[in-house]
Amino acid sequence: MYCTRKITDDLLYIGGSDRRLNRFENLFPIPRGVSYNSYLLLDEKTVLFDTADEAIGRLFFENLEHGLDGRALDYLVIHHMEPDHCVLLGETLRRWPDVKLVCSAKALSMIGQFFPLNVSDRTLVVAEGDKLSTGRHTLHFLMAPMVHWPEVMVTYDELGKTLFSADAFGTFGALAGNLFDDEITFDQNWMTDARRYYANIVGKYGAQVQTVLKKAALLDIQFLCPLHGPVWRAHPEVLVEKYQKWSTYEPEDKAVLILYATMYGNTENAASVLAGELAEAGVHDIKMYDVSDADLSDLIAEIFRCSHLVFAAPTYNGNLHPKMEALMSDMKALNVQNRTVALIDNGTWAPVAAKHMAARLAEMKAMNVMENPVSLRSSLTEVQRESLHALAQAFAAELV
Ligand code: FEO
Repeated sequence: MYCTRKITDDLLYIGGSDRRLNRFENLFPIPRGVSYNSYLLLDEKTVLFDTADEAIGRLFFENLEHGLDGRALDYLVIHHMEPDHCVLLGETLRRWPDVKLVCSAKALSMIGQFFPLNVSDRTLVVAEGDKLSTGRHTLHFLMAPMVHWPEVMVTYDELGKTLFSADAFGTFGALAGNLFDDEITFDQNWMTDARRYYANIVGKYGAQVQTVLKKAALLDIQFLCPLHGPVWRAHPEVLVEKYQKWSTYEPEDKAVLILYATMYGNTENAASVLAGELAEAGVHDIKMYDVSDADLSDLIAEIFRCSHLVFAAPTYNGNLHPKMEALMSDMKALNVQNRTVALIDNGTWAPVAAKHMAARLAEMKAMNVMENPVSLRSSLTEVQRESLHALAQAFAAELV
């Protein structure tokens, strides 16, 4: 049975949520599920903004048919060709054979790559600044390449003051009836997932996000409609401000994040002692994670949040502990930059982890790595404890 929500008198939310999928993109755990948002504009012409994932296919088509209430579907605007939004394209074309597609040139070529369809003669290819009148509404198309795929565009509806923002401003998390930001407590219940979504999926593309933010700043936006998560109508600036920080790689919080790998607990002990010293020095809200235990996506999100990072790892196979290696590789891939960093390593006969961590960090931009890493030779000594005390004092001087 259909389950839609009205956004305005002529704009319907017709998406749905999936609570069964374990990993988004078969990569990121989503214990809170995810929503696939789709919108239907009922103007003199009818316009569908994106389809949805096949997981909610049945509901999506019931919603669409209910929304159309017997009317024809005139346009399908395709903002993004990732299959969580376009996999139902073929079935949509089968059910509404006269619908006209609206998309970027790059998206048109991707349609042919994903589907055995030739849709050129039924596609309106749009470029930056192009407009489409649907009756009372005029849609403006703005290109948003590499946020986070090359074909992405966003649409601004002038009359509705609505920005359909594709994946931008989206978040993990299933919707539970409440659709709008003023119906939920976003900061408390959603921000962690919004940060994790941004950092891991869009994080690499800060420069491209900045371009979109500059375009959006020129618009009068009353409704912000992303492809995942809630619709913003009360305080979109809450997330826009976060995007400003995340896309410029500016830490959100002046805070310490300790990330350690440990085999038998000795490196963990050094991390714990450092955390204690930091607390004694007056640092609040210290976070610690075992990189072998936590999901990489959570660690990346925390790295986007915190200003001061400590990496502690044992040497492994004459190199870096593989879990720490994976984390640092992901940090580089996601363009992490502009952090203050301290290193702790451990090695019973040849500690080289700090050297390798420093080399990884040197490949990232604006990483201020503190000199003289604390180096253990199996377990912590009183001399090394003094070094951790000094490190804690140095961090506290910047944070307290
Ligand atoms: Fe929600 Fe990039 O797809």
